[in-house]
Amino acid sequence: MNRVFRIAPSILSADFTRLGEEIRRVEEGGADLIHFDVMDGHFVPNISIGIPVLQSLRKATELPIDVHLMISEPERYVDEFVKAGADLVSVHTEVCRDLPAMAAKIRAAGARASIAINPETEPDRVLACADCLDMILVMSVHPGFSGQEFIADSLDKVRSIRRDLERRKLDLDVEIDGGIKIDNVADAAEAGANVFVSGSGIFGHEDYVEIISEMRARIARV
Ligand code: DX5
Ligand code: ZN
Repeated sequence: MNRVFRIAPSILSADFTRLGEEIRRVEEGGADLIHFDVMDGHFVPNISIGIPVLQSLRKATELPIDVHLMISEPERYVDEFVKAGADLVSVHTEVCRDLPAMAAKIRAAGARASIAINPETEPDRVLACADCLDMILVMSVHPGFSGQEFIADSLDKVRSIRRDLERRKLDLDVEIDGGIKIDNVADAAEAGANVFVSGSGIFGHEDYVEIISEMRARIARV
């Protein structure tokens, strides 16, 4: 298996009073992309960060920014997020009626297209349009908060998604998001994920260089 593995620190767990420095530290650690969680207080019971923070972040890093929209009516905001600096946009299937149209909209705006699925959502609809996507994001916690416990069943979902993609010879990224830490990152890789979001698992650690390289080492052994 020759899969490219990517580690995506979620800045939801960073210290927002010194975000620039936090980004530099994860860059030094070898982060591959920056995961940016947008919450609207409607699709999820929490409110986080949005366009102005993304614009600032865009100036602070050359790494691709992976924007995870946990918002209702995402079609209203996709263009703005891409203009503000998103390289990759994930929209939730639970709030999206026409997935191929959404993917086309994200790509037309100039970003890579991804669809996210909640723990209780079946992957069928997303898999049905996998050929028009760049990534599938599997939530391994209920979206809304960092620092929650990993839902172990998500590994089965990742496994069946990867199996289906392989059967159809589709080489998409499969991202896993929520509760990913040093002790389960290899399980996620083994199940077929190749993009690993980690918030508290990285920012809760004192030495980002050490934790990111240790995660990478564990994934590499899979
Ligand atoms: C949860 C977010 C996640 C979160 C991950 O709703 O989508 O990206 O920040 O944080 P941890 O890794 O702490 O679960
Ligand atoms: Zn996320």
